[in-house]
Amino acid sequence: MLTTQDIRIVKSTVPLLEAGGTAITDHFYQRMFNHNPELQDIFNMSNQHTGRQKLALFEAIAAYAKNIDNIAVLKHAVERIANKHTSFHIQPKDYDIVGHHLIETLRELLPEQFTEEVESAWTKAYGVLANVFIDREEQLYQDRENSKGGWRGKRAFAVVDKIQESELVTSFVFEPVDQQAVMDYQPGQYIGIELKPNTSNHIEIRQYSLSTAANGKQYRISVKREQGQIQGLMSNYLHDHIQVGDLLDLHPPAGDFYFIDKQQPVVLISAGVGVTPMQAILDTLVAQGYQQQVSYLHACENAKQHSFNSHTQSICQQHGWQHFTWYNQGVPAGDTLGENIAIGFMDFSQVSLPLSQGDFYLCGPLAFMDFAKQQLLNLDVSEERIHYEVFGPHANL
Ligand SMILES: Cc1cc2nc3c(=O)[nH]c(=O)nc-3n(C[C@H](O)[C@H](O)[C@H](O)COP(=O)(O)OP(=O)(O)OC[C@H]3O[C@@H](n4cnc5c(N)ncnc54)[C@H](O)[C@@H]3O)c2cc1C
Ligand code: HEM
Repeated sequence: MLTTQDIRIVKSTVPLLEAGGTAITDHFYQRMFNHNPELQDIFNMSNQHTGRQKLALFEAIAAYAKNIDNIAVLKHAVERIANKHTSFHIQPKDYDIVGHHLIETLRELLPEQFTEEVESAWTKAYGVLANVFIDREEQLYQDRENSKGGWRGKRAFAVVDKIQESELVTSFVFEPVDQQAVMDYQPGQYIGIELKPNTSNHIEIRQYSLSTAANGKQYRISVKREQGQIQGLMSNYLHDHIQVGDLLDLHPPAGDFYFIDKQQPVVLISAGVGVTPMQAILDTLVAQGYQQQVSYLHACENAKQHSFNSHTQSICQQHGWQHFTWYNQGVPAGDTLGENIAIGFMDFSQVSLPLSQGDFYLCGPLAFMDFAKQQLLNLDVSEERIHYEVFGPHANL
């Protein structure tokens, strides 16, 4: 239990944290991986290089310190982080390690300000937050273990199908080796995949959105080959080495981004491989005979990178749902554009949207989602009706 004095002291350190910025979490991670190198088998070390995870952790700690007298305002963030943690099978004992390195980081970076009083208040405050996560994560582990077809931790699955969806995206279909049922999930949720690529020194865990409706027997994910200056470890390994018949471990479905049935119009907005949760939502809407208007808006580079086009086209035609796509790079000379395809960036003035009602689900690169969200806000769509998923460490749009 935090005293008024603990709360006052933690809040008084907010300016110090803000002045330190991500240098604090940078130091923290370096320290932690030096002393506990085994954690490199849990964390995505590529996200360490890109700096996105350092920022996500820094923002979470700063938000906690600012709102320590009213942590109810952090409930959405807690839910998102706890879900993410469960896809790595984070355990209560891990919180002791993280807490230790966090306190030592503050001591090392702020030797003058980190008095006994500050140490005591921050140690207690960390303990309170850790318990919030530990409790929620245990509840999620139990819920999944107790649901039909559910499990806790890793479960062995076999690849039963591998399908090329477009130039860069390939789907993988998994069935459990034990041949038992698999738990249902909410459309929009993801699974954790754990394996040891021969291209990495570590075990790697990544999240992939389930890309079709739940069916109790199989899971399908659809993976984009990440070809930046440095080739993505897991995505390239899956594309190049994982074949039908191969085995890998999956963590149960998780995530706080999913379709919520309010019997209102639904607008699905994606770019690139952000299409995957939208496919799960679309297929679920079909399976449940959704009676409200659905709009499916997608942006990608060109026709070759347009995943799930014919599937989406046929569903939308059949149900009279709006389907519109933007190709950023245009089409080769001589090719004609389809009726519902435009060139350039996604532009909501080219479609008719249920602006005053309904929910808007977004997924794609951060810059795309920023751009799409801003357009929606300019059109007076209220913020609470805009939902989004980040394919990486979370960032606020
Ligand atoms: C909730 C969620 C759902 C997701 N759903 C999907 C999905 O449905 N489909 C999908 O394809 N992906 C999805 N992702 C993304 C996926 O989890 C992986 O992040 C993605 O496949 C890349 O992983 P990787 O191992 O191939 O790349 P990584 O090795 O993790 O690299 C990621 C990026 O970092 C760069 N990088 C690596 N090392 C360095 C370095 N030293 N310096 C600078 N840059 C570096 C790489 O070039 C690459 O661009 C999802 C992510 C989340 C969090
Ligand atoms: C109170 C303590 C903690 C806080 C505030 C915290 C905060 C966060 C945040 C903000 C994220 C990003 C979430 C997102 O992308 O949506 C995250 C992800 C993660 N956390 Fe924690 N965390 C804590 C404890 C732990 C512990 C104990 C572990 C295990 C050692 C852990 C392992 C991870 C991992 C592996 C990720 C994903 C990293 C990635 O994808 O690069 N966290 N955490």
